[in-house]
Amino acid sequence: MHTITIHAAKGGSGRTTAVMALTSGFLVLGKRVMVMDCTSQTCRGPKCQEPTTLQAWLAAMEACRFRSPQLELAECPTEERVEDALAAATTCGFDIVLIDTQAYPEDALSMVLAKADLIVVPATGPQEARFSCQSLSEQFDCPEHIIGLITGHRHGAAEASEIRAAFGALPVFHSEPPGSEALAEQILHGDIAHFTSMLACKSGQPGYARYRAAHAAYSEVLALTIELQWALKGLRLEAFEGDTSPFSYIRKSVA
Ligand SMILES: Nc1ncnc2c1ncn2[C@@H]1O[C@H](COP(=O)(O)OP(=O)(O)OP(=O)(O)O)[C@@H](O)[C@H]1O
Ligand SMILES: [Mg+2]
Repeated sequence: MHTITIHAAKGGSGRTTAVMALTSGFLVLGKRVMVMDCTSQTCRGPKCQEPTTLQAWLAAMEACRFRSPQLELAECPTEERVEDALAAATTCGFDIVLIDTQAYPEDALSMVLAKADLIVVPATGPQEARFSCQSLSEQFDCPEHIIGLITGHRHGAAEASEIRAAFGALPVFHSEPPGSEALAEQILHGDIAHFTSMLACKSGQPGYARYRAAHAAYSEVLALTIELQWALKGLRLEAFEGDTSPFSYIRKSVA
């Protein structure tokens, strides 16, 4: 079993979006996934009727026919609950535990950072990347298991390379899930593969551009999931010199 903590030191960095997307990626690879919610949303009182973001997303995933024992959600506001959920994940044979966190320090955060095989640091902009790097470098001396993730950039390659540079010395995933409806609306549509297949149509038909955009996002999420699996084995992808494709999801790489 591998434990992956998604953490950024700033709110709105794309942590929950990355957790949901990577779940779709690991499910398509046939993995059993436990999603652990360590955000402040799990601390709301019992009187709160509104579902949390991940509860709403889980309902959408269930509508796509993903449910226990393939996919489970564990809500863990305290260290004790984190310990219990990790023990249950081991006993029940989950392959992957994906942990959503909140920006500021609280009970469970230091534990899920300490327990992680890999810490993924998403950023939708350069400022978030800089801030997270600074915060994590205060906590980890030798952060070899921390990798940056560029997600949701809206202005193409220029903005992506600005975010990449803002991560400084931190390694950054080669894959870059773009800003897209398929990723932004997972809470409504659930599984990205399912959503993409719902939009499928032929070139020239109405909705083809929407389908293409969803397909590109889905391909990038798959590439990221595979890159992440490699990272868990200590392998990193590097750009293949001489590849000039403008589409990051079809660029060649070497490990
Ligand atoms: N790849 C993407 N494509 C489109 N929108 C994205 C993408 N990544 C993030 N976003 C959007 O950015 C916003 C923040 O993302 P998200 O909620 O995942 O961040 P967070 O770090 O979990 O924030 P919070 O502090 O609220 O927990 C959301 O509106 C989300 O839809
Ligand atoms: Mg969140």
